[in-house]
Amino acid sequence: MPNVHTGAVSVVEATPDDWAQWRLLRQRSLTEDPEAFASSVTMWTGDHDVEARWRQRLADGPCFLARAGATPVGMAGGRRDGADAELISMWVAPEARGRGVGRLLIEAVVGWSDASVLSLRVIDGNSAAIGLYTSLGFALDEGCADAEGCRRMRLRR
Ligand SMILES: CC(C)(COP(=O)(O)OP(=O)(O)OC[C@H]1O[C@@H](n2cnc3c(N)ncnc32)[C@H](O)[C@@H]1OP(=O)(O)O)[C@@H](O)C(=O)NCCC(=O)NCCS
Repeated sequence: MPNVHTGAVSVVEATPDDWAQWRLLRQRSLTEDPEAFASSVTMWTGDHDVEARWRQRLADGPCFLARAGATPVGMAGGRRDGADAELISMWVAPEARGRGVGRLLIEAVVGWSDASVLSLRVIDGNSAAIGLYTSLGFALDEGCADAEGCRRMRLRR
């Protein structure tokens, strides 16, 4: 996909050689906003914090990085989910929030996905994330949160 730019922020699809920036953001996201994710920081630190594993994650792709200049400020990933696609690992650094970075990252994942449905899981009550997703056309599924406290949202095309 073409890289997306807005002001000083650009979004690029990460390659395995970008593993250190992806690692920085993933560890920050799980440390600074643990309540927003079903994953735990222990899954990506300690014995699990291995360059080859980060490189493999990026090779499995797609992973998108937002950069302000050369500084990584946001991340999002995509993965296949049967016939559908799923948006995962969405995080924008606190110092870069409220400037449209989250929107740019989602547009990058939407641009990657050719599925008719792009879905995601969001912790019930995460109003910033639900507000972001709703503003881009995602709708909350009916029903209660799952066992991990997550609701599913879907963008249908
Ligand atoms: C949710 C998150 C990704 C938003 O990133 P962001 O870069 O600040 O979002 P944007 O600036 O692109 O916002 C785009 C739109 O989303 C909505 N939005 C963003 N933050 C919001 C908030 N705090 N409350 C309500 N709506 C919000 C607004 O509609 C906004 O458009 P506007 O600025 O024209 O009003 C960011 O707050 C974050 O990383 N939070 C912690 C991690 C997290 O919750 N990840 C999601 C896991 S499912």
